[in-house]
Amino acid sequence: MKILVTGANGQLGRELREVLGEKLPGMAVYTDVEDLDITDADELSKFVEKGDFSHIINCAAFTSVDKAESMPGQCARINSDAVQNIASVASRLGVKVLHISTDYVFDGKAFCPYRESDKVNPVSVYGTTKRKGEIVLLSMCPDAIIIRTAWLYSPYGNNFVKTMMRLGQERNSLSVVCDQIGTPTCARDLAQAIAAIVTARQWIPGIYHYSDEGACSWYDFAKVIHRMSGITSCNVTPILSEDYPAAASRPHYSVLDKSLIKKTYGITIPFWMDSLEDCIGRIKNNSDL
Ligand SMILES: NC(=O)c1ccc[n+]([C@@H]2O[C@H](COP(=O)([O-])OP(=O)(O)OC[C@H]3O[C@@H](n4cnc5c(N)ncnc54)[C@H](OP(=O)(O)O)[C@@H]3O)[C@@H](O)[C@H]2O)c1
Repeated sequence: MKILVTGANGQLGRELREVLGEKLPGMAVYTDVEDLDITDADELSKFVEKGDFSHIINCAAFTSVDKAESMPGQCARINSDAVQNIASVASRLGVKVLHISTDYVFDGKAFCPYRESDKVNPVSVYGTTKRKGEIVLLSMCPDAIIIRTAWLYSPYGNNFVKTMMRLGQERNSLSVVCDQIGTPTCARDLAQAIAAIVTARQWIPGIYHYSDEGACSWYDFAKVIHRMSGITSCNVTPILSEDYPAAASRPHYSVLDKSLIKKTYGITIPFWMDSLEDCIGRIKNNSDL
């Protein structure tokens, strides 16, 4: 087994470096845009051919949901066209692909957790380009695995947890939307699930949903982040999405049903607050992150 991880400097990529480094030492090559730009089909093709990889785990993406609205071309190049590049070389060389997608492929009109077979209807440029990536990958590589995840955070890069910890210290008050319900997901937990899939006895292709367990609003999430970080001086007020100016629309409800991945791969998923507490501890212990 030899694994190529793309987008390896992002939140998930950094966690995968640690998790795979322990579980499969020396068996993965980690790249990001400066060493391997997945939008460059020729470069990608040569890299994969030369590296003789058995698997590609694609963590690379354009993930700025609001910026995507004003940069649809760049977003599509990374989230859809580059996935086609991966699919093309993988199908030619027989490489297994594990790709990450998003809860934002759904429109959020549901009232119970989304299953993999539920109708998709993205409401943003980001969600639309990620869905196109799913379609092109499955059409060219029916053997691929796609994991849709949600609300990722980690000690690395920019994310809601780190932003709320910073703003909670800088400000006396904050307004956070309370009418978008989803599940915060620790990137470390997703990395563990990916490692379990890659090392499983059987590779069972298809789309799977993975987030941590439970559900909350961004407002609930912010309150818990502050409580767990010991921030008491910032008053957090719940507001509606319509009162919070954002370039992109987001689903009001995007909780994922994880039954399939749990049953197929025997994965146990932590409750979101337990993982959050652990991650906040890691952030506090490393001020360089
Ligand atoms: N973050 C979330 O809340 C969330 C929610 C649901 C699903 N997801 C999905 O989960 C996956 C991992 O997300 P993440 O939060 O770890 O993303 P991330 O932190 O934004 O990391 C993505 C990485 O991909 C790199 N990249 C961008 N363009 C590239 C290119 N052309 N070639 C190679 N690498 C490139 C980025 O580099 P630069 O930083 O230099 O651009 C970055 O290091 C993505 O597929 C994302 O769509 C994320």
